[in-house]
Amino acid sequence: MTATLLTGIAELATNDPARSTPSDPLALQYDAALVWQDGRIVWSGPADRAPAADDRIDAAGRAVLPGFVDSHSHLVFAGDRTEEFRARMAGERYSAGGIRATVAATRAATDDQLRSNLRGLVEEMARQGTTTVEVKSGYGLTVEDEERALRLAREVTAETTFLGAHVVPPESADDPGAYLDLVTGPMLTAAAPYARWIDAFCETGAFDADQARSVLEAGAAAGLRGRLHANQLGPGPGVALACELGLVAVDHCTYLKDADVAALADSGTIATLLPGVDFSTRQPYPDARRLLDAGVRVALASDCNPGSSFTSSLPFCVAIAVRDLGLTPAEAVHAATAAGADALDRSDLGRLVPGSPADLVLLDAPSHVHLAYRPGVPLVAATWRAGRMVPPVDGSNWQPITHG
Ligand code: NIG
Ligand code: FE
Repeated sequence: MTATLLTGIAELATNDPARSTPSDPLALQYDAALVWQDGRIVWSGPADRAPAADDRIDAAGRAVLPGFVDSHSHLVFAGDRTEEFRARMAGERYSAGGIRATVAATRAATDDQLRSNLRGLVEEMARQGTTTVEVKSGYGLTVEDEERALRLAREVTAETTFLGAHVVPPESADDPGAYLDLVTGPMLTAAAPYARWIDAFCETGAFDADQARSVLEAGAAAGLRGRLHANQLGPGPGVALACELGLVAVDHCTYLKDADVAALADSGTIATLLPGVDFSTRQPYPDARRLLDAGVRVALASDCNPGSSFTSSLPFCVAIAVRDLGLTPAEAVHAATAAGADALDRSDLGRLVPGSPADLVLLDAPSHVHLAYRPGVPLVAATWRAGRMVPPVDGSNWQPITHG
């Protein structure tokens, strides 16, 4: 098959595990080149030693990074919550209850409406450098609607997550126990064929630690891996629960006590920070520096959803993480690539070394630092997934951003 040489790379972020260090997490190479074939990287090294290939692309002094791995999103929904956001910016507090407005709109939507919104957002992500995305259900909250959300999500990604335990829907308000039985029983049975992961929103106004534990245990019995929304709106038991259960990642982590930080460091559970949420809900940002200094692995994700974080942009999250979470630009890019991949237990992704999928981003900038230095500027010049440009320049031949 055709081999493609991308040369003239001023700065190549490889995330090569053999060379990545705390002071150089991206394992940068300068004046580099890459060759890919059949969707995988087959060579990387100094540009002046690059082998010949069938196709040759000149990066002309730009930077290249692994594609972003967005390990947390809620893209199967209908409607928007502009009014809620406007009110929040005028001083209202965010509450988990807003989810129910999206549930009503999602239930009323046709498959085609949901599919078109979902694909539009996936394409928007690709244009901003995302090559892998995790997608959750959680705006259906009936057996049929959760199954439908996951079936649609599976059309675009292998990283699908059953989130029946998002909130108790209005029709079950009087009997949350019965709703939990539904989630851990028939809803899980219907969702499991389309899901790889199971998640719960462990927070005041959603589910407590015992309820979240029962959801994760039922999911594990059905073959789903656990992840958790925790410590988003205030201190709580979710992070400790995630660490106790040895989950691969726990997400939000905005309000952490010292014991939570110690538990994360001991368990190796990745803390996935979602700064788009803290931005859009006017919350304090988590202290990523404190986490890294304590030996905790940190990932960054968008949490793209119509309520708490309606951004699809990991470059935006990287810029906030550098400005306000205390990460260096290299740490932030690593958190949105290799660590995002690890948060999905996909260490095959988020690296640009021989054997990796050719999932990469060409920046219209000489270095990754520009992602934070030039916030809000569309610096992604091109994105390739498995060696093919996404979205295609002519908009045809739509491809899901999945490997599995
Ligand atoms: O991750 N925290 C729970 N779920 C989403 C919010 C969803 C919504 O407000 O619609 C989140 O922030
Ligand atoms: Fe979320």
